[in-house]
Amino acid sequence: MTFRTAPAIIDGWRHARRARLSARIRFFKETPMADPQIASRTPMAVDVEEGKAYWWCTCGKSAKQPFCDGSHKGSEFAPLKYEAPRSGTVWFCGCKHTANAPLCDGAHKKLP
Ligand code: FES
Repeated sequence: MTFRTAPAIIDGWRHARRARLSARIRFFKETPMADPQIASRTPMAVDVEEGKAYWWCTCGKSAKQPFCDGSHKGSEFAPLKYEAPRSGTVWFCGCKHTANAPLCDGAHKKLP
């Protein structure tokens, strides 16, 4: 029987986490998706609470922007979960073209 030290176990967890994240990034880069609807050409400021989950609309069709209202049903889109790391104001992407979903990265400035 071999015993792993605490740092080795933590390294294993970090490696597994990095591998899962890489797989998600690869999936999003390689999976062709329909263009989302531009809900707004400006980011949306929302006061969030630490630890609370928010479901960001990825399709742009929700009437409750920037959050999902179920309007994506039947499409290839699904809402994206955002868990607030701390309480405060967060700028959610409104154009749905951010590379830092669900947060604004300024992509709306480059849209045609
Ligand atoms: S309504 Fe847009 S993702 Fe749900």
